[in-house]
Amino acid sequence: MSQQTVYDASQYIEKLRGYTASLAAEQGSAPKCFVLTFGCQQNVADSEKLSGMARDMGYELCDDPADADLIAVNTCAIREHAEQKALSIVGQYKHLKAKKPSLIIAVCGCMVAQEHRREDIKHKYPYVDLTFGTASLHRFPELLWQKISRSRRIFCPEETEYTVAEGVPICRESNYRAWVSIMYGCNNFCSYCIVPYVRGRERSREMHEVVAEVRELVARGYKDITLLGQNVNSYAKGMGYDFADLLSELDKIEGDFILRFMTSHPKDASYKLIDVMANSKHIAHQFHLPLQSGSDKILKAMNRHYDKARYLDIVRYIREKMPDAALSSDIIVGFPGETDEDFEDTMQILDTVRFDMLFSFIYSPRKGTPAAEMEQVDSKLTGKRFDRLLALQHDIALEKNQPMVGKIIRVLCDGPSKNNPEIYSGREEGNKIVFFHASPEDTGKFVNVKIDKADAFALWGEIEK
Ligand code: 5AD
Ligand code: SF4
Repeated sequence: MSQQTVYDASQYIEKLRGYTASLAAEQGSAPKCFVLTFGCQQNVADSEKLSGMARDMGYELCDDPADADLIAVNTCAIREHAEQKALSIVGQYKHLKAKKPSLIIAVCGCMVAQEHRREDIKHKYPYVDLTFGTASLHRFPELLWQKISRSRRIFCPEETEYTVAEGVPICRESNYRAWVSIMYGCNNFCSYCIVPYVRGRERSREMHEVVAEVRELVARGYKDITLLGQNVNSYAKGMGYDFADLLSELDKIEGDFILRFMTSHPKDASYKLIDVMANSKHIAHQFHLPLQSGSDKILKAMNRHYDKARYLDIVRYIREKMPDAALSSDIIVGFPGETDEDFEDTMQILDTVRFDMLFSFIYSPRKGTPAAEMEQVDSKLTGKRFDRLLALQHDIALEKNQPMVGKIIRVLCDGPSKNNPEIYSGREEGNKIVFFHASPEDTGKFVNVKIDKADAFALWGEIEK
């Protein structure tokens, strides 16, 4: 069922505009907001909304926390490491607050949707002014106003009713790549995963809202649009249409653009979806299909609701319909109870499927999830397994990338690369990174690149005019 609400923060925005205007008059320049993002693309998309709301409240966005009057740290909780990183950065902001006592620090997102983390912040980070979880994201102006008007710290408890807020302003980082959330939350409760606890139950945006957003993006010149959801295959359950229907509708939009989506759950990925992709004009022949483990015993303990045979069948169907499809996956190493034999099953299926890209993670116990209570695997064993998995995937990816040498492929140019501004980078249809020489005017455009070198992680070439 849909649970749409319309974002209407106008009364708070107006009050905050008054507040930022008086700050501007005092300081001689508009107050600034710095948004820092940890975690997945969903968080990146959420941060674009935080930025959009901050801009509407009268803040100028900035990229140095030292310049900021408002800092929003959008946190991740997927693994312990992500939480520790966010906490350590928040720790560093203590001295900023000491220098500028009027600075407001907000910590939001998945980490603070957990009560024990809110308590940590309350007691160990007294200079943090405001916390709110992902389900309260659209209430940012209201909560900030509460903080300012009552002049006290605000720790927003988790929402009891989850909604889909439409109309939240978005300040996009790019003017040619866009993230579009199509659903929020997750109902799957994989036994290792914190997401269902911190992002709440599944709820989907209505199809006409998503179509209108994508249509507008294409009209504004966006070239690469990724639809986001924790499990896009269960989009719009109970609403009379499904994810494949949404893709069919979006594919009808005229223009030169690529559509992608993440993430798919193998238990719900349908032949219908693969048929729609194979017959589409705009949908990238790219599939991210998290496997997690190649052992049926571990998949069961993970509560994944599919087995190796079902997974291999979807892969077979994808490759039958789209022989050129780039396949990627997620693997967790060291899930509780994983024996050498279970791990060998994972190695074997990787060897069979031969993914183009693999995101591998060492299992991290998450407080409150069933797997955290199970018997844990020795970390030395896990480390060794992880290294073997990386080595195997390195060889597979190299072997998959080598045949690209000599081919001319279409790449969306992202501009100068991070490590060497002389060399530009971009992404091809399968989402592989490509390096090449280009000029500033190529940024945000499709270019044809003739590949002359490939390794396990990237392709290199020159533009063919
Ligand atoms: N430990 C390690 N990896 C995890 N993932 C999710 N939860 C955990 C955890 N507790 C991985 C899964 C998922 C990806 C986004 O993160 O592989 O697909
Ligand atoms: Fe986590 Fe599983 Fe939901 Fe993905 S499908 S977000 S792994 S619970």
